[in-house]
Amino acid sequence: MVKRIVDILRNGQPEESVTVQGWVRTKRESKEFAFLEVNDGSSMANLQIVLNQDLPNYAEVIKQLNTGASVEIAGVLVPSLGKGQRIELKAQTVKVYGEADPESYPLQKKRHSFEFLRTIGHLRSRTNSFGAVFRIRNACSYAIHQFFQERGFLWIHTPIISASDCEGAGEMFTVTSLNLRNVPRTEAQEVDYSQDFFGRPAYLTVSGQLEAEVMAMAFSNVYTFGPTFRAENSNTSRHLAEFWMVEPEMAFCDLEGDMDLAEAFLKHIFKYVMETCHEDMEFFNQRIDNSVLATAENIINNQFERLTYTDAIALLEKTDQTFEYPVKWGLDLQSEHERYLAEEVFKKPVILTDYPTEIKAFYMRLNDDEKTVRAMDILAPKIGEIIGGSQREERLEVLQRRIEAQGLNPADYWWYLDLRRYGTVPHAGFGLGFERLVQFMTGMGNIRDVIPFPRAPLTVDF
Ligand code: 4AD
Ligand code: MG
Repeated sequence: MVKRIVDILRNGQPEESVTVQGWVRTKRESKEFAFLEVNDGSSMANLQIVLNQDLPNYAEVIKQLNTGASVEIAGVLVPSLGKGQRIELKAQTVKVYGEADPESYPLQKKRHSFEFLRTIGHLRSRTNSFGAVFRIRNACSYAIHQFFQERGFLWIHTPIISASDCEGAGEMFTVTSLNLRNVPRTEAQEVDYSQDFFGRPAYLTVSGQLEAEVMAMAFSNVYTFGPTFRAENSNTSRHLAEFWMVEPEMAFCDLEGDMDLAEAFLKHIFKYVMETCHEDMEFFNQRIDNSVLATAENIINNQFERLTYTDAIALLEKTDQTFEYPVKWGLDLQSEHERYLAEEVFKKPVILTDYPTEIKAFYMRLNDDEKTVRAMDILAPKIGEIIGGSQREERLEVLQRRIEAQGLNPADYWWYLDLRRYGTVPHAGFGLGFERLVQFMTGMGNIRDVIPFPRAPLTVDF
């Protein structure tokens, strides 16, 4: 029976017959034996395989078994004499599926830089670092669904092609139904892209929030988890043009309830990952960032700090710290300010609330002072903003006024306004940048290294 290597290493017993399939990581030859390390992606650990010269096709397979080759090996488990492993596999039959020419296979047994690995995106998942990243990414996804499903939230699927600019920031990619493949570039530039989706404008969604609000007005508690797109040409280690977002939306909920949910949510994900992926987390702690485990414990065990934007500005104005960008009430915080608050001042995640109306989206609920809105951002050490959320404006007149004030056309939002005309309720939600979460959890420095196929300026190879 074919077994996953992780199961063999945990539960395999001497004298048990097993078959494994995977890729060769290394080969060592001595006079009478050869040792292989084989990995199948089920965990960081490799299974050691002992090949004996009495294997029928020994001479032939030993030549084929280079780093990267794919194999199926059947044999018997035996106690291992080597250090660091309990058990190893004594091979009885070896089948080589595909060789990997050592002259040209780019992944050799040495440490490759992440920059180099980004140029071979189709192979990098076979390394220890990316194996660990994508297993953690998977565990986070599972924990997210578990968290919401256990609380009765409905997972809803919001559209990727959308007509509305949720954030009102004009960062939308245009979608066209025209086939421009054979149109010369100069002519293509004259096409009126604003009418392009079968005669109407359409874009790639920047957020599923507005549609999530529609569904929350029927199901009370819902969440989205899917890809979103931003046409911002930012070449930073925190921005992607295509990223995944998790967006819960709750009817009959205010900003306090929203913050409580967001905090419980992050704690749940960290707890789940620490329980189920400890080996991978240890790896990050040793090899990538030696504060990863302490950070996870900190998230799980400590309450997040909560303060208003206004108090945060006062605090930043008072410090001796010098910043590249100015700090002034009314200006948006830059990631250096966000990180300073989370890393230096509070040393844990910080939830900032009640941002200036001018710098936030039209749908956020206006406070009585009219100068601020019921927004909240969660700022994480090393990352900055990881979650952005708010209580939504549920009053029809105020919302109409806010749409106009931001230079948007209320006619475009007729259905969204209908939600306030018919059975409106206080409601709130937030968006978690999924890749920023994975970065935060693993300590990986560049957001392009926590998504299998990053989409950012100059990265689209395939
Ligand atoms: O703060 P944002 O723009 O909020 C929204 O989109 C709301 N509609 C969410 C809601 O209330 N339902 O984005 C939410 C999060 C940010 O906090 C950040 O973590 C992430 O999405 N994010 C990005 N991640 C990677 N690359 C980008 N270009 C990102 N832009 C935002
Ligand atoms: Mg934001």
